[in-house]
Amino acid sequence: MNKLYITNKQLLPEAQILATFTNHFIICTDLPTENIFLRLDKDGLAIITKQFQPLYVRDIYNKVYLRKDGLSSELLIQAIKIKPTADILIIDATAGLAKDSVLLGLYGYKVLMLEQNPILATIIFYAMNNKIIPANNLQLIFTNSADYFKINPDIQAHVIYLDPMFKKQDKALAKKDMQIIQLLTHDSINLDEELFKLAYLSCKKLIVKRDNKQAAIVPIPLPAYSKQGKTIRYDVYVS
Ligand SMILES: C[S@@+](CC[C@H](N)C(=O)[O-])C[C@H]1O[C@@H](n2cnc3c(N)ncnc32)[C@H](O)[C@@H]1O
Repeated sequence: MNKLYITNKQLLPEAQILATFTNHFIICTDLPTENIFLRLDKDGLAIITKQFQPLYVRDIYNKVYLRKDGLSSELLIQAIKIKPTADILIIDATAGLAKDSVLLGLYGYKVLMLEQNPILATIIFYAMNNKIIPANNLQLIFTNSADYFKINPDIQAHVIYLDPMFKKQDKALAKKDMQIIQLLTHDSINLDEELFKLAYLSCKKLIVKRDNKQAAIVPIPLPAYSKQGKTIRYDVYVS
């Protein structure tokens, strides 16, 4: 169980809504001793860690919005290469903090986000409920995406996107929010072959984000094409 700390009892109803989304939280009014927990105070929801200053959810997405005017030059959108009409469904099966999903939603795609980590899923849920991110194109399910594809074998998305955690190969530190995801997911390299195969069978285009120094996620099949940037690339598998 994770802790959701409220600084004021009046925040209890809001905290209960947040805690119920995943059912993985205990609401408390005493300062938790855990390394990482969520805090709801008069200024909003924040993620508290021993390593960093409190990170308010409303501050996570500022930079994403700055990219709003140049969406067609985003590498991920160029990798997708599909016009964003209302019936195009993208599943972001490793949603994280949903920054990529927000960009895809702003571009006009309908995005179904799947996230298995309760803290990250709650942050996205809060951001959607409080209109910090636009909820009209976005839907969120708290789940392990391999389980989701197994339970929904008939699902056919136009695109499935996988952004597995990878360790930075250079010495530069990852951005703060990515370091927090690493803390929460214990740095695990979290894309297994099973998830790749399930996702590949459930869509027309599967996109996998890789560090340029990494090989493709599986030896076979080969990506149909890749969209490469300075440090990362998107491998695109077409089925
Ligand atoms: C590198 S982060 C994704 C960052 C994301 N693209 C963003 O823009 O914020 C990878 C995320 O995938 C999630 N994840 C990994 N395996 C998963 C699975 N099988 N089902 C659901 N989520 C998963 C992890 O919990 C982590 O939050």
